[in-house]
Amino acid sequence: MDTRERYQQLKQEINFHLHRYHVLDSPIISDVEYDRLLEELKALESNHPDWVSPDSPTQRAGAAPADRFDKLRHPRPILSLANAFGADDARAWYERICKLDDRVERAKFTVEPKIDGLSVVLHYRDGVFVQGATRGDGEVGEEITANLRTVRAIPLKIPVQAMVDEPQTVNNAQLSMFERPSSTVQGLPSKLVVRGEVFINNKDFEALNIKLAEVGEKTYLNPRNTAAGSLRQLDPALTAQRPLTILVYQVVYWENDAAGGAQTFKLPTSQWELLQWLKALGFPVTDVARRFDSLEEAIVYTETWDKGRDALGYEADGMVIKLDDLSLAAELGFVGKDPRGAIAFKFPAREVTTRLKEIGVAVGRTGVLTPFAVLEAVEIGGVVVERATLHNFDYIAEKDIRPGDRVLIKRAGEVIPYVIGPVLDARTGAEQPYQPPQACPACGQPVEHFEGEVAWFCVNAACPAQLIRNVEHFVSKGAMDINGLGIKIVEQLIAEGLVRDVADLYALTKESLLALEGFADKRAEKLLEAIAASRAQPLNRLIAALGIHGVGEVMANDLSRVFPDLDALSKASADDLQAIEGVGPNIAESLVDWFVREANQSLLARLKSAGVWPSGGDPSLATRRSAVLSGMTFVVTGTLPTLSRDDVKEYIEQHGGKVIDSVSKKTSYLVLGENPGSKHDKALSLGVPVIGENDLRKMCGE
Ligand code: IVH
Repeated sequence: MDTRERYQQLKQEINFHLHRYHVLDSPIISDVEYDRLLEELKALESNHPDWVSPDSPTQRAGAAPADRFDKLRHPRPILSLANAFGADDARAWYERICKLDDRVERAKFTVEPKIDGLSVVLHYRDGVFVQGATRGDGEVGEEITANLRTVRAIPLKIPVQAMVDEPQTVNNAQLSMFERPSSTVQGLPSKLVVRGEVFINNKDFEALNIKLAEVGEKTYLNPRNTAAGSLRQLDPALTAQRPLTILVYQVVYWENDAAGGAQTFKLPTSQWELLQWLKALGFPVTDVARRFDSLEEAIVYTETWDKGRDALGYEADGMVIKLDDLSLAAELGFVGKDPRGAIAFKFPAREVTTRLKEIGVAVGRTGVLTPFAVLEAVEIGGVVVERATLHNFDYIAEKDIRPGDRVLIKRAGEVIPYVIGPVLDARTGAEQPYQPPQACPACGQPVEHFEGEVAWFCVNAACPAQLIRNVEHFVSKGAMDINGLGIKIVEQLIAEGLVRDVADLYALTKESLLALEGFADKRAEKLLEAIAASRAQPLNRLIAALGIHGVGEVMANDLSRVFPDLDALSKASADDLQAIEGVGPNIAESLVDWFVREANQSLLARLKSAGVWPSGGDPSLATRRSAVLSGMTFVVTGTLPTLSRDDVKEYIEQHGGKVIDSVSKKTSYLVLGENPGSKHDKALSLGVPVIGENDLRKMCGE
């Protein structure tokens, strides 16, 4: 083979691998092999600069920055879409077009994701990508060819072909698996103009932001704005650094001139076939498009994606329901810029902007100070939002979120709404950077910061803001387990001044309880009994109940095995504590810090005189290894590979889980062995997740 032939082959080979990687998501060579091919191509091009053609992979980057973008007139108007907000809107659209043409009643529909990106128009001349533009006003766009070339999912030459000759980079076995898109394509017009949406996949967007944060640069707000900004960079080298990709969904225009093109060429007549054809040419096309015989089926499909939209991997703001018959769609014409033959079925918005009135600070049970956004009320997906999380003070600083800012809010699924960041363009100049509080907003005591943690803490156990949650935690199931003390009663007890710290619980009398709303004899007696009974709780529970920062159930259990009572624990030095397995410097410091405080010492004294002074932990927990399974229930069926019935029960209990006999909807997991009984069927029918012994061990960190 002469070098010229080798050059042609290399171009084709590299474009083929780019397609495998960026469009099909299934590369067949490693990055190293790819780089080697590219190096070979570059070497040939530097020896023969006159060979370089626009479809060479080296032409993707490297164009010089522009001063401004030229205008490019689209060969046909680039239309928009009318919106439907729900199934009824979609049905109304259908009825409207049924009246215009009775063929609509028998029509099929193709449903595709409505990608939240940027519409672009790509021009191919004899299969070579020659020009590309933004949508602009729909008539004229900005010519951004150099930038679009850097998007590797955009084929520079179509059809993307498999290698003609024996490829040198893959063996024959792999070759037989090759898709040969070229063979399925019946011709190509000499001019072809397609339209697609440029965007950034969510995982690439997150990775990009992590990378930017690592080098101390500003992170981006959302994938769409980032994609838009990147495409309109005057320097293509900057565009090339952004993980842009594209999905193509429309042929805007085609033409055969006298000289070339397949003269018998016929464009597919349905949207569904058009998508297959585009895909066969090597264009990236959505793989979740479906064709349906009725609008109702199309609606059902659309609604499943509304719920599952996160699984798409990119931001979609709805699904597009399109009449499948392209000539019928074209005949229906358009209203303004919206074609009648398609409708955007919008998902409820997940991102909106509103004004950040102020930054509030809440104090949690453990004293952690959490900033939150107080917003001008705004609706997101049918819910009015006035508060949103700001995560922590580092987040506010990193995003430079300032009171008074216009901010972007996101509310996705069940996730609590959070502030993504400020809309910098909306700043007036009056907004001042935010300073975290130096004192607890509830008790005025200075706040503290523990090494290695993001949070700021109020460490005053008598802090009124912490009291409700402190008491709630003290009485909770995993702690002193006092039945009948719900949050409402705790609030009342505190509001009436009956409880100023948890030791006061043990001084409650029947009279004082009867004075509270909703208490009669029986209820008061029962509560007092439950409180009294909690004196018998073992030491580990009392330690956990104190709510010391970093000391949960497992740690409390470990401590209760070393220290006979709270006197001994309170005298332990940081070194003594660190000698215990699992206790690091932070927890040791936090314990010492807690016991040294006067308010906490007096609390201990009062607990002691109230008779709440257990010695020794719960002996049944002596072998407890972790609490990873706590709150979970397991049913075991069949013979497990290594654990006997008793062993597996013990194993689960050692990790805080519970084993029960029969499967119900509430069962967390069914552990399945060989020759299972009917429990397996029951678990399947109730949708209870089924795991094996290995999965169980993995859950426990083995
Ligand atoms: S079809 C005649 N299909 O949504 C064709 N548009 O709100 C009209 N979009 O301007 C467009 N994904 O930028 C179509 N699968 C898809 C789309 C899609 C995203 C964008 C497009 C359009 C906007 C309308």
